[in-house]
Amino acid sequence: MAMIALKAPNIEVRVVDMNAARIAAWNSDTLPIYEPGLDDVVRQTRGKNLHFSTDVSSAIKVADIIFVAVNTPTKTYGVGAGRAADLRFIESVARTIAEHANGPKIIVEKSTIPVKTAETIKDILAANARGHKFEVLSNPEFLAEGTAVADLISPDRVLIGGERTPGGAAAVKTLVEVYAHWVPRDRIITTNLWSSELSKLVANAFLAQRISSINSISALCEATGADVDEVANAIGKDSRIGPKFLKASVGFGGSCFQKDILNLVYLCEHFGLPEVATYWEGVVKMNDWQKHRFAGRIVRSLFNSVADKKIAVLGFAFKKDTNDTRESAAISVCRDLLAEQARVAVYDPKVPADEIRADVLGKDADPGRLTVARTAYEAAAGAHALAIVTEWDEFKQLDYAKIFTGMQQPAFIFDGRNILDLAKLREIGFRASGIGR
Ligand code: UDX
Repeated sequence: MAMIALKAPNIEVRVVDMNAARIAAWNSDTLPIYEPGLDDVVRQTRGKNLHFSTDVSSAIKVADIIFVAVNTPTKTYGVGAGRAADLRFIESVARTIAEHANGPKIIVEKSTIPVKTAETIKDILAANARGHKFEVLSNPEFLAEGTAVADLISPDRVLIGGERTPGGAAAVKTLVEVYAHWVPRDRIITTNLWSSELSKLVANAFLAQRISSINSISALCEATGADVDEVANAIGKDSRIGPKFLKASVGFGGSCFQKDILNLVYLCEHFGLPEVATYWEGVVKMNDWQKHRFAGRIVRSLFNSVADKKIAVLGFAFKKDTNDTRESAAISVCRDLLAEQARVAVYDPKVPADEIRADVLGKDADPGRLTVARTAYEAAAGAHALAIVTEWDEFKQLDYAKIFTGMQQPAFIFDGRNILDLAKLREIGFRASGIGR
């Protein structure tokens, strides 16, 4: 929304949320999320044509277009638990819109949702419409965290799905014009509603599949002595395969990949396609296996026991340049090491200590053997092993010779992101290994 405000100064954007603390943060100097470049965009537009408030009902009344961007977590209860999306927030927003609308509205689904959710929204709106006309569009977001501003300024494509009716077509045209303020027309794709909803799930499933594919090969490389980065480079030069998303790692994280694939799996099961469901579920299973495999390798290397040994975990966010920890591989790695009774010291440049403790142990749990360090050096002091779990740039610049002398011997380093030069580390004296090398 901040980008729309920046690129389309004639459009008035109101961002509303029931959560007063979050809105206060958006109105303050410390935004509630860390995202490079976002502060600047908000600073340029806030108070002009970008406004944050808790007044949901007036915002609905004055709006022509309403973007719905609520959370759609994986259901934790009842039918489809662990797989299906929990749509209670979507439903509640639809009811709120119907209650306060005083004229025709275009409702845009921005949240990632299972195919045919637009139907739910339409049903609820229709049953409560009081004579007003609603058009529902799907407009999934493809930005990645850490690069959100650049992705929004020049997206590979903008996808807009709508009903193939005159009303639907007119609504699609209105939304196309919003993006056309800065996105070239040939990058704005329009489809039917279901194609758009499904495309988002499929895009994420394909991206995650590439990571699970290369991660599966990383295990084979470790067994045979091939180097997975060399293999990825060699196959990525084939223009039909391409070089992106082939970085072997401790496993993908983030709020989208796992959730969206599980959603796709649920959809396939629902529509009686168990073979398709199993095929895609394999991507998530491979990812879980890779996370456990990494922790298992640490334990095996440290002479099959890490009990009471100190292990430094560098990085906790699910990738660099974000403070988001949702589904981060670090959570699984820390839990596995703690289950083996290791003492785990975590350092992350952006994630607060209480977040790290809550993610690994649950809220208000006794930290036990888990500590959070203020620097990488503090985490590594006296440790038996160092594990790189997030690819933060600062981890490439550390003084590893200094770290080595402060560690228990023999000192181990496990590069879960393949960002370090293992040969150099071995020269220093480290027993160094990476993923698939
Ligand atoms: C993803 C999609 O890229 C984006 O289009 C969609 O809108 C939301 O989901 P995001 O979750 O922000 O974005 O991050 P992304 O850069 O895709 O990375 C996801 C995870 O995969 C991270 O943990 C990352 O470290 C990991 N990854 C990525 C790899 O392990 N190897 C790779 O080659 C690429």
